[in-house]
Amino acid sequence: MIEYGLLASVDERDVVHVQSLLTQLSKNAPVHSLKSLREVMRSHMIFVARDTRDAHHPIIGMATLVIIRQLVGVRGRVEDVVVDEAYRRHGVARMLMQNLHRQAIMGGVPLLALSVRAENDAAGELYRSLGYNKGHLEIYTIDLSKS
Ligand SMILES: CC(C)(COP(=O)(O)OP(=O)(O)OC[C@H]1O[C@@H](n2cnc3c(N)ncnc32)[C@H](O)[C@@H]1OP(=O)(O)O)[C@@H](O)C(=O)NCCC(=O)NCCS
Repeated sequence: MIEYGLLASVDERDVVHVQSLLTQLSKNAPVHSLKSLREVMRSHMIFVARDTRDAHHPIIGMATLVIIRQLVGVRGRVEDVVVDEAYRRHGVARMLMQNLHRQAIMGGVPLLALSVRAENDAAGELYRSLGYNKGHLEIYTIDLSKS
């Protein structure tokens, strides 16, 4: 059975699971320690799916909500949406996102935004099927490590 919930406390095993998911999300994912993961958890709500059929209840999927209180109002960002390869196409990401949406509504977030690479068909389909519309904003980035 897959259980869904907000990541409230973590141990070393959770760090390994989160790291494995991050590697599937990005080749440049930073390496986390228990301390750095706990630091992220202070400002980010990390929704996780756990496989309770496995004795260790591994985290097999996650999605992160960041609520930002800006001068222009409250905004929500969705980040780090990823499901372990072995568990894909079983509705795990959809459930994670629906839980995240409920939390955002409870937190008074009127609008959620996320970024997705144009060639990421699976993610694009997922978000469209959940009701997300493509916006017209362009994303600008700068690599400050080269400054
Ligand atoms: C994108 C991702 C999170 C989807 O996770 P998932 O648990 O397999 O998705 P779900 O089973 O909940 O699928 C929900 C819907 O998304 C769409 N979808 C998911 N995977 C898809 C795929 N490979 N091709 C086309 N549509 C897909 C479908 O509309 C699907 O509904 P359906 O199964 O009823 O057709 C997963 O493929 C993943 O982790 N990819 C690598 C990381 C990544 O790209 N993250 C997104 C960063 S923006």
